Amino acid sequence: MAALIRRILRNLLATPLKKLDFIDVYRARSFFNNHPIIFGDPNRIKIGKGVHLYNSILNTNSGMIIIEDYATIKPNSMLITGTHDFSKKGMERRDAYPRNGRDIIIRKGAWIGPGAIILGKVTVGENAVVGAGSVVTKNVEAECVVAGNPARVINRLVSDGSEPTAS
Ligand SMILES: CC(C)(COP(=O)(O)OP(=O)(O)OC[C@H]1O[C@@H](n2cnc3c(N)ncnc32)[C@H](O)[C@@H]1OP(=O)(O)O)[C@@H](O)C(=O)NCCC(=O)NCCS
Repeated sequence: MAALIRRILRNLLATPLKKLDFIDVYRARSFFNNHPIIFGDPNRIKIGKGVHLYNSILNTNSGMIIIEDYATIKPNSMLITGTHDFSKKGMERRDAYPRNGRDIIIRKGAWIGPGAIILGKVTVGENAVVGAGSVVTKNVEAECVVAGNPARVINRLVSDGSEPTAS
């Protein structure tokens, strides 16, 4: 009984400490509302200042994830560097994934819509917009709006970045 109470108390104490560790790991002056789920090494994630990051999934098994200043990553999006070698089968395939080479870079001010999936290796350009539920498999130019599966350009910002052009 005493052991059970000790275990419950230990678990209760562990939760807030974990959250503090998370903020500390990133040393970010950013806003986290519901913590992202991280698969892979959290030290492969770099987050700039003023980033908004919600309950996304961040997979760093095959590369770095860099999110620059003022980017906003909306709920339920997934940034996935990992992949598997589909020429292999079964357990061998499960364990055959590259450790590097599939970085995801979200440039300054980019906006990743809710439920979007970003598959590395990909860079989303400065102030670009990725529509809700889109699947991004190629680089997104700066100041472009992309949407759909696979994501295609549906709009662009005008050169001063203030107003969208007609699509
Ligand atoms: C990407 C987005 C900003 C585009 O908005 P918009 O410029 O007003 O685009 P429109 O609604 O005029 O759509 C233009 C075309 O793109 C398509 N489209 C727009 N968003 C799309 C999306 N997410 N996926 C697929 N197609 C999309 C539209 O169907 C339309 O196609 P059509 O020309 O064949 O009719 C918006 O759709 C979006 O996804 N916003 C994200 C919402 C969000 O992050 N909210 C924050 C709270 S969490």
